[in-house]
Amino acid sequence: MSYYQGKRILITGAGSGIGALMAEQLGRRGAEVIVTARRRKPAEDVARRVQAAGGRGHARLLDVSDLDSIAPFRDQLHTEIGEIDILVNNAGVVFGGEFEQVALSEHLNTLQINTLGLIAMSHAFMNDLRNAHQGHLVNIASASAYIGLPFGSTYAASKWAVLGFSESLRLELKERGINNVAVTTVCPSYISTGMFDGVRNPILSPMLTPEKVVKSILRGVKHRQALVVEPPLVRGIDLLKGALPGPVWDEVAKRSGISTSMRHWQGK
Ligand SMILES: NC(=O)c1ccc[n+]([C@@H]2O[C@H](COP(=O)([O-])OP(=O)(O)OC[C@H]3O[C@@H](n4cnc5c(N)ncnc54)[C@H](OP(=O)(O)O)[C@@H]3O)[C@@H](O)[C@H]2O)c1
Repeated sequence: MSYYQGKRILITGAGSGIGALMAEQLGRRGAEVIVTARRRKPAEDVARRVQAAGGRGHARLLDVSDLDSIAPFRDQLHTEIGEIDILVNNAGVVFGGEFEQVALSEHLNTLQINTLGLIAMSHAFMNDLRNAHQGHLVNIASASAYIGLPFGSTYAASKWAVLGFSESLRLELKERGINNVAVTTVCPSYISTGMFDGVRNPILSPMLTPEKVVKSILRGVKHRQALVVEPPLVRGIDLLKGALPGPVWDEVAKRSGISTSMRHWQGK
């Protein structure tokens, strides 16, 4: 029997990209997936794909940037469907460009969705996860949680915050003896979902496929891993950055293409 069989899993931003693929793959493994998106049609389409794959799919509208709507959304979900076992905080946006040319509203929106929405969702559903036999909080961060991202500074800030939040909460739950709730932080490099169209991949970091990333996430969650990092060499960045003098690290970041990767961003 699959680890995911019969588990009730809520995914935010599941109308496209890795959220949609994860929903479908979980359906294939017999899960009950609450597909949430801010638009009705993508949510319903993906919920149908979950059903077609053999799982149970529910479509629900949820805009995670509307923080005040999250607790009422949870209460309604409890009435209509029940408590969840796994929360996947996947919704995210990016606005690339030269810092002052990008509207302040877009910088702030990035933090509102990627960070504050994720924290509000985790807060609203923590009791569900605590009541579950094997509760799990899965937070989609990014490889840019490990490194500065020129031309995407607010996106990097939002993901550094997610990594810090996730890691802290994971340790807190352990400290409090809450052993049935795992926390997994996912840090992938660029994925071919359209979000980062136009970027130039740094050396040793080819464009990832959504299939590869979703496979790693589902394996990592099943094994209750603290971190899922793709490609794994991203984890070495911390070591390298710590070991090298600042100006040498800056040169490495430039020559490897890390510093310039977002310069030609055209994504959605
Ligand atoms: N693609 C990459 O290279 C990459 C790399 C590392 C991490 N990630 C992270 O992976 C996650 C999924 O991204 P993806 O690559 O699959 O791109 P994607 O297809 O654009 O998925 C992002 C999803 O988030 C949804 N969303 C945006 N704002 C929302 C809001 N306020 N409330 C609810 N949903 C909202 C989007 O819905 P709409 O269609 O309505 O906008 C979209 O379905 C994101 O957190 C992203 O930061 C992506």
